[in-house]
Amino acid sequence: MSLQALKQTIKQELANEYESIELSSLIAILLEHITGWNQIQQVLHKDEALDANQQTALLEAVADLKKGKPIQYITNKAWFMGNELMVNENVLIPRPETEELVDWIIEYATKKNKPLQILDIGTGSGCIPISLILALPSCMIAGLDISETALHVAKQNATALNADISWLQEDILATAYLPNNYDIIVSNPPYIPYKENANMQVQVKNFEPNIALFVTNEDPLIFYRVIARLGKQYLSPNGQLFFELHYDQGKALLALFDEMGYHAELRQDMFGKDRMLRASLKENKK
Ligand SMILES: C[S@@+](CC[C@H](N)C(=O)[O-])C[C@H]1O[C@@H](n2cnc3c(N)ncnc32)[C@H](O)[C@@H]1O
Repeated sequence: MSLQALKQTIKQELANEYESIELSSLIAILLEHITGWNQIQQVLHKDEALDANQQTALLEAVADLKKGKPIQYITNKAWFMGNELMVNENVLIPRPETEELVDWIIEYATKKNKPLQILDIGTGSGCIPISLILALPSCMIAGLDISETALHVAKQNATALNADISWLQEDILATAYLPNNYDIIVSNPPYIPYKENANMQVQVKNFEPNIALFVTNEDPLIFYRVIARLGKQYLSPNGQLFFELHYDQGKALLALFDEMGYHAELRQDMFGKDRMLRASLKENKK
C-alpha cells in the first residue's frame, strides 16, 4: 500500500477518536517518526510503500493512538522551550504553561545578573532545570524527584543537551533537609485532587504517571505548604519561590502563603488563568 493510501486508511481508523486537523498532524508526526521523512518528503514519497517493519510499527502506533496514548509517549519525544526532550510513561509530558513559568524565572534571574543557586522540586523529565541552565549558564541548578525512573529520564535529557545539573532523589513530603540554601526554589508539583479524575481526558489520566498528577482531596495544597516551610529554612536572603498551580487554587494559595509569612503574587497564563505564583518571605527587604 502506498504512503498516501496508508494515510487515508489511518484517517478512517481514527476518525471517531480525533478531530480532522489534529489527526492530520498526528499522522504526519507518526510517519516522520517511523520513516524519518519530514512533511515535504512525505509528499515527495507519497506513492512509495513502507517496508514490513515500518508497517508493523505504524499499525502498533495507530492502535496506541486509538486507546488514547499521547503521541509523545509513542515517539518518546516532546518539545519544551525549543529543546527536544526524551519522555516516557514515567514522566509528565511537559506543558506550555510550564514554559511560561520558566520564562518568568529567566526574566527574574537575568535581572539579578549573578550566579544563583536554584532547586527544582518534582523535576520529572528535567524540563525546568535543563531549560534554566541553558538560559542561565552561570547558575548552579539541582533537580529533585521522588521517582527513580523519572530521574533516569531527566539525567538522559541533561546528558543529551549538555546541561550540567545535580540530581537528588528525595520524597519532599518526608524530608526536613535540603543540601543547600537556594536563591530560587521552583516547583510544578502534583496538584490535581483525585476527585477530578472522573472529568479528566483519557490521554492524561490513563497514561501520565499518577504520582505526577494527583494529590489527596483532603489536602490538595500539601506540596505548596511543605515547600513554603522548607523555604523558611533554605531560601537565601531575598530568595524566591516560584510555582505552577491549578487554575482555581490561586486565591487559596495567596491565603496560604500570606499565613506562612510570605508576600505572594499570581501570574496568569496565555489564556488569562491563574497559573503561576511567586513568593518571598515578608521579612526580606523589598
Ligand atoms: C506535575 S509533575 C512535574 C514534572 C516536571 N517538573 C514538569 O513540569 O513537567 C510533578 C513531579 O513531582 C514528582 N513528585 C511527586 N511526589 C513527590 C514527592 N513526594 N517528592 C518529590 N517529588 C515528587 C513526580 O514524580 C513528578 O515528576
